[in-house]
Amino acid sequence: MERTLIIFKPDCMHRQLVGAILSRFESKGLRIAALKLQQTPLAQVEKHYAVHRERPFYKALIEFMTASPVIAGVLEGPQAIAVVRKMLGATNGMEAEPGTIRGDYGLSKQLNLVHASDSAETAKAEIALFFKPEEVLSYTRAADRWISE
Ligand code: CMP
Repeated sequence: MERTLIIFKPDCMHRQLVGAILSRFESKGLRIAALKLQQTPLAQVEKHYAVHRERPFYKALIEFMTASPVIAGVLEGPQAIAVVRKMLGATNGMEAEPGTIRGDYGLSKQLNLVHASDSAETAKAEIALFFKPEEVLSYTRAADRWISE
């Protein structure tokens, strides 16, 4: 069982796509372990995207990610990190395959709707940056035994 951090970015919020996209994760069988609306403090966004500090798009990315409240969450499931990344599709919405979230809803590199952790190490650090341990809950849903063995 893995956990991964997701962030519904400002473009997703403004385009009112949170429900539609969250529904895809739920339909897949992933469990919501945490979810919250927040206006992300600048320092938190800078830490989250520190790896991109030297990239030409960094300043625009920070401005974009602080432009409105976002919804951050933790999804849980078998191989959740790779499964969620696959569901999102390529970073660039113009290149993402139809059937993926960005392939179905996106036409931009920056405005790519949802962030998701890209490795087990990153997921651990990103979840700790956005959630206190007691905000991430483990529980069993009635349907769980019908979703994965
Ligand atoms: P994300 O998966 O959250 O990780 C880094 C983010 O930077 C990425 O999604 C995009 O929002 C943004 N990004 C990545 N590459 C580019 C680019 N070439 N130009 C603008 N924004 C980018």
